[in-house]
Amino acid sequence: MSATLLRTVPALRGALRAGAMKPAAALASTSFIRGKATLPDLPYDYAALEPYISGKIMELHHSKHHQTYVNGLNSALESIETAEGKGDFTQAASVAPLLNFHGGGHLNHSLFWENLAPASRDGGGEPAGELKKAIERDFGSLETFRKKTNTALAGIQGSGWAWLVKDKQSGTLGLVTRANQDPVTGTLEPLLGIDAWEHAYYLQYENRKAEYFDAIWNVINWKTVASRFEKS
Ligand SMILES: [Fe+2]
Repeated sequence: MSATLLRTVPALRGALRAGAMKPAAALASTSFIRGKATLPDLPYDYAALEPYISGKIMELHHSKHHQTYVNGLNSALESIETAEGKGDFTQAASVAPLLNFHGGGHLNHSLFWENLAPASRDGGGEPAGELKKAIERDFGSLETFRKKTNTALAGIQGSGWAWLVKDKQSGTLGLVTRANQDPVTGTLEPLLGIDAWEHAYYLQYENRKAEYFDAIWNVINWKTVASRFEKS
């Protein structure tokens, strides 16, 4: 069983046992009903992020891709429960990659939707308050942070994510990437994630993914990023 999974399983189990509770900060945005992970509603319409992210992309991304992670997570958890019931821990451990992939996909996308907002509402602009100070302290400026993030996103080989994270022990901000759907865990609190999977941009931007990475800053909801920063 991978180290990532060992950290993820107890949190997912805790969430399931607690219904819609919050066993870990990283799970604050995920939704579980009656022991099952469920697809969260978006706080805006699919077309609300246009022209930066098309309504068609948002519809597919949320209703198809995220739903697949939700279904896969529930299936993996059921398989583990069944294997545990039989005392077959080898079988339970064999589900580890699926749990990590679909559980991470559910966590990551649940955070991602909250990171976004229409440009006509809270999207775009700049962070304020303590988050602004922390970004300037740890990256030099917001512009430097944006450039470093876009460079990190462009450097992801295959599918993955870039995250602004807060080290819960030191309080400092950092920039990390994760492959596939690996979640941010341990002492790092994910504050802002940008999805670099092709499904997040290809219908609109095709092979011009750098344009997507530039455009998404127009719909970043800094208020939710600041909220996560202040709570963690
Ligand atoms: Fe995605």
